[in-house]
Amino acid sequence: MGRESDTQDVLGASMTPSHPMEPAAEPMSAAQLTAAVIRRLDATPDPRLREVMTSLIRHLHGFVTDVHLNGDEWLAAIRFLTATGQISDDRRQEFILLSDTLGVSMLVDVLAEPSSPGAAGFATESTVLGPFYAAGSPEREYGASIVERPSGELAAYTGRVTDTDGNPIADATLDVWQNADDMLYAVQNPDAPPDNLRGVFRTRPDGSFAFLGVRPTEYPIPDDGPVGGLLARTGRHPWRPAHIHVIVSAPGYQSVATHIFDAGSKYLTSDAVFAVKASLVRTFERHEPGTEPVPDGVPPGEAWYSLTHEFRLSPARVHGASQ
Ligand code: BEZ
Ligand code: FE
Repeated sequence: MGRESDTQDVLGASMTPSHPMEPAAEPMSAAQLTAAVIRRLDATPDPRLREVMTSLIRHLHGFVTDVHLNGDEWLAAIRFLTATGQISDDRRQEFILLSDTLGVSMLVDVLAEPSSPGAAGFATESTVLGPFYAAGSPEREYGASIVERPSGELAAYTGRVTDTDGNPIADATLDVWQNADDMLYAVQNPDAPPDNLRGVFRTRPDGSFAFLGVRPTEYPIPDDGPVGGLLARTGRHPWRPAHIHVIVSAPGYQSVATHIFDAGSKYLTSDAVFAVKASLVRTFERHEPGTEPVPDGVPPGEAWYSLTHEFRLSPARVHGASQ
């Protein structure tokens, strides 16, 4: 059978109406095809789903039309998304990494709280949660250390949790996790004690908290998968500026998942996941060995750092309120 008749067979099959009463489809322009797909959503009972899907089709078709995507490129995109799914499992979520590196995670964050400049009267700004959060960190005492094995230069973290008017919040919870000087979080490193550099702390009646950790280091996001390949092909680096993660929560207040960024870090203006907000950047102060008062857990003769930060929480949203 020749090439022409192959093509005729294929076309003939696809032109056959799927139902005997349906007329054969007329050839369509790109715009007509987009409109036909959107019309197919008319019967969607959930209005929000209809709104989201209609806009998705409009923008997706607009993008394909805009770049005049060809068949090879379309197939490359399908292969990329397939690989993104295949490398994901319980411990690795490559789709979230894709969302992070395309700025979508931060766009969702910014849209959720468009008016929180981090100034007085406003709550602490949120930023990406990231893939290295693990629930179940041990509860630790005020001032305790999260350093379970040598992990870098020691840093004493102190501060307060308050409401947006500056009133202290007692018994607020700080769920903290940070990476070590080998650039890894405990959940990434089978050789590290599982609770190294993680801990849950509660504020005292005056809203104060304190713990001993380390000064964080810059690190690359996992870049050995499809997302790393895309970063490389688009001339982007995979690095994040040094930061620690904290989820702050208290009954009656909105929880916030946030970072404290090290003002002395590289990559503050080129974070691979676009998560830096100016209000979250803080300076670590260096203390030479023996500078009093040496925090508990800092060995004599060792230099240490300190960092103070205030977290402010908004009142919980009232369920059913319009804002
Ligand atoms: C993190 O900070 O842990 C992180 C955030 C987004 C992507 C990868 C890592
Ligand atoms: Fe991180």
